[in-house]
Amino acid sequence: METKPNAKTALITGAASGIGQELARLFAKDGYGLVLVDKNQEGLDTLASHFYHQYGRVATIITKDLADPNAPQQIYEQTAGQGQRIDVLVNDAGFGEYGLFATETDFEREKAIVQVNAVALMHLTKLFLKDMVARDEGKILLLGSEVSVAPSPMQAVYGATKAFIKSFGESVRSELKGSESKVTITTLMPGATNTNFFKTAGAAHVKGADPQKTADPAEVAKAGYQALMAGKDHVVAGWLNKARVVMAHILPDPLVAASARSDMMPKDEAEQQQRQLLTALGIATAFIGGLWLLTRKSSDSLPTISAYGKANPSRARYRDKACQGKASAQRALDSATDSVKGAYGTVKTKLEDALS
Ligand SMILES: NC(=O)c1ccc[n+]([C@@H]2O[C@H](COP(=O)([O-])OP(=O)(O)OC[C@H]3O[C@@H](n4cnc5c(N)ncnc54)[C@H](OP(=O)(O)O)[C@@H]3O)[C@@H](O)[C@H]2O)c1
Repeated sequence: METKPNAKTALITGAASGIGQELARLFAKDGYGLVLVDKNQEGLDTLASHFYHQYGRVATIITKDLADPNAPQQIYEQTAGQGQRIDVLVNDAGFGEYGLFATETDFEREKAIVQVNAVALMHLTKLFLKDMVARDEGKILLLGSEVSVAPSPMQAVYGATKAFIKSFGESVRSELKGSESKVTITTLMPGATNTNFFKTAGAAHVKGADPQKTADPAEVAKAGYQALMAGKDHVVAGWLNKARVVMAHILPDPLVAASARSDMMPKDEAEQQQRQLLTALGIATAFIGGLWLLTRKSSDSLPTISAYGKANPSRARYRDKACQGKASAQRALDSATDSVKGAYGTVKTKLEDALS
């Protein structure tokens, strides 16, 4: 199927996989000329060949590792040398690393995360934005994240780069608006999405990476594409993530960090804790409900006790039994409270152990 060629060209980094690939599909469908950048040559070749067969358009492929500080300048020079005008820049390439910053993660890899996610993104924006401003036309999409506005334990450096992106994007956008420019910058903020991201980060086993619960990259890309075309400042993909971003603004940081940390727990541990918590809550509810009924039944008979005549032995016996019933109900309630406290304590300790 051939599409009507669009005179415009989009350059997309990280196009070989995941959200970047889905964004490339949307641009291809709308007839954009494409410059596809990634370090995964095979993935780029496959995608370009697919676009050629589907739309009859030839995409330019640039295979570069954006961890190389020279890569952005080389990409810019290659497109300029080929006389290619970049109307839309999509800074999608990015990755993370799972683990405790103090003792588990690798510093060289973390430097590469900062280089790719933040420095290369900033450098490419610098190079292409200048031309866009000179033409007074252009659009830039930055791949932020839900963690752009929240602490990100177990991916501390990755989260910090995403916070950088949100701040950087909003700031430059504000500067552009001040000059009444038609150039726009949009930040796409996805939550956990079903791509290679978690596998690359060594976090495929965590609760938050569950493919059943993560977003469809095509849906995420669509939200980003629409926001970019509408010139919006940012978009949070998915209603649940929108709610999480709102909560991140309202709740204290330590609470948001604890919640993010629990998403980063190994899935089986998280499920076991959830089961224990639900069991404890179930026991507590059943005990409290049952004892409330029992004490109510006993209490219903108690008001009449004060009215019993001392001379009536059967009434006295009844009063005695009612008092005994009330006392044993109280003992049962105390013991139930202790059990619930014990169960709660166990779950709390396990949660604290897991989160510490
Ligand atoms: N998935 C999520 O849950 C999620 C959530 C929020 C934000 N994001 C962001 O979305 C963006 C896209 O990630 P994704 O989820 O689509 O993951 P993905 O499937 O791993 O795609 C990332 C792409 O970027 C490429 N890339 C990584 N490092 C690169 C480098 N040094 N030089 C050139 N290309 C490089 C990867 O190439 P290789 O295949 O060779 O590694 C891959 O093709 C990232 O910025 C990520 O931070 C993802």
